[in-house]
Amino acid sequence: HVMNQFLGVSHTEKKLSQYLGIERCLIISGNSDEQPKVMAEIGKMVNQTLQIILPLGRDIIAVMGGTTMARVATELTPKLSDRRELLFVPARGGVGENVTIQANNVAAQMAKHSDGKYRAMYLPENVSPDTYASLMKEPSIKEVVTLIDKSQTVLHSIGEALTMAKRRHLSSDVIDFLEQRRAVAEAFGYFFNAAGSVVYKIPRIGMQIRDLKNKPYVIAVAAGESKAKAIDAYMKNAPHQTWLITDEGAAKMILKGA
Ligand code: BG6
Repeated sequence: HVMNQFLGVSHTEKKLSQYLGIERCLIISGNSDEQPKVMAEIGKMVNQTLQIILPLGRDIIAVMGGTTMARVATELTPKLSDRRELLFVPARGGVGENVTIQANNVAAQMAKHSDGKYRAMYLPENVSPDTYASLMKEPSIKEVVTLIDKSQTVLHSIGEALTMAKRRHLSSDVIDFLEQRRAVAEAFGYFFNAAGSVVYKIPRIGMQIRDLKNKPYVIAVAAGESKAKAIDAYMKNAPHQTWLITDEGAAKMILKGA
């Protein structure tokens, strides 16, 4: 059985998954805010987890962007492709990130390191609703959207709301709005308050939060003390099958508030 292939669940891992109301938490020692090497260990843990949980055969994996995902990508290994055909796709269209950490690039890097394949979805930022609607009819975009729908695995991170709003160059009006609504977390271009309710959403093509509940494998990777509040908030309404791969820094901080 999947679970037995791990060296058992630690007391803290169990406590954290119960508190967050999700299936499983895996905690790496250290605090990645202060020790960059912790992220390498987290990446290795993601690789190991995928090796254990991904079904053999064809796997479509929808991935989000960000520095965490980009770091994780470099730790994937070709062994993942033994008896599997991996296809990585960006889960959502561009969200105004720097090219190297865009979901497109993360998908490409994950494919490169794991000996898999990838598809990119090139979309302009800030298009009018009309243009957006006609872009959805483009065969190349439609194809990737279909793959996103078919994906059974989702890999994503979680960010702090305001940090992410600024990094994505949202307007000062939107930032004011997020402050008023007390947004603390961001994932998939959705912003959440401490109770885990969506308070704002960047409209994008691709996966929507409601689609997550139909995905059997959802892996969230987020670590560091600084992300504790964001992780706690996001997990309030996250689908139960979510696995969280994190570090002690974040875990201890979350449980302190518990
Ligand atoms: C992405 C998520 O994977 O990671 C974002 O989709 C999240 O919504 C981001 O905010 C966090 O980025 P970083 O750079 O902190 O890993």
